[in-house]
Amino acid sequence: MNERVCTVASDIIDSISDVLRKHEVTFEEYRAGFRHLIAAAENHEVGLLLDMFFNQTICDIEMKSRQGTRSNVEGPYFLEDAPWVTDSVQVCGNTEPLRIRGQVRDTAGNPVPDVEVDLWWANPDGTYSGYSDDLPKKFFRGKLKTDAEGRYDVMGSMPIEYPMTSARHGPTGELISMLGRQGMRTKHVHQKYRKEGYHPLTTQAYFSGAAYIDEDPVKAVFDDLTYDLQLEGDVPVLEIETVLDSIAA
Ligand code: DHB
Ligand code: FE
Repeated sequence: MNERVCTVASDIIDSISDVLRKHEVTFEEYRAGFRHLIAAAENHEVGLLLDMFFNQTICDIEMKSRQGTRSNVEGPYFLEDAPWVTDSVQVCGNTEPLRIRGQVRDTAGNPVPDVEVDLWWANPDGTYSGYSDDLPKKFFRGKLKTDAEGRYDVMGSMPIEYPMTSARHGPTGELISMLGRQGMRTKHVHQKYRKEGYHPLTTQAYFSGAAYIDEDPVKAVFDDLTYDLQLEGDVPVLEIETVLDSIAA
């Protein structure tokens, strides 16, 4: 017996049973949902499906007990041990440039050096590296450390809108359509920040005025994570401001 699992899982089961009763779901409908979940599993979409509906809720709960930059959907495509990078993240294919700069501070405004930062984003096909042999995880992902001023500065590429309803996402895409939601995630850069003594932070940066920004199927776009791009010559620059919350001693 696991106390916590018992508490939460029992409540989930009871809540689902209540919904089935409320809507007088038939055996045929129950079986259709059952088959949908099996199809999602066979298509390796269970992570996608769960994160789509529940990841942001968990982030919101996390923010009730800490300060700093808002925690935002990790999504199913983070990979541990991405390559360390200095000046640029390796990209390939037909990309548009994007320079990504950031500064990490604590809640008192002091820069935080030596933070381990992971950056990852979608390639021009709208997929994430490391999920097929065609695109190994050395592309479109990088790890770096903040300098003495808490800053990082790396050349990358413009992320692409991410299609959750493409042929790759059969059952999940189908469900999004049946719910009447559109299936494109607006373009975004994923980030993860880790340093001992601070709450780890996983978040995303969004782009003002970008396509689909007002109709995110994952409901994870927030104004405080949305940035205007600055142009330096021909190169758009994303300047990310991040605040980490220290773990109380
Ligand atoms: C999800 C989140 C993402 O950031 C993404 O690119 C794809 C899917 C998700 O929550 O399922
Ligand atoms: Fe993503």
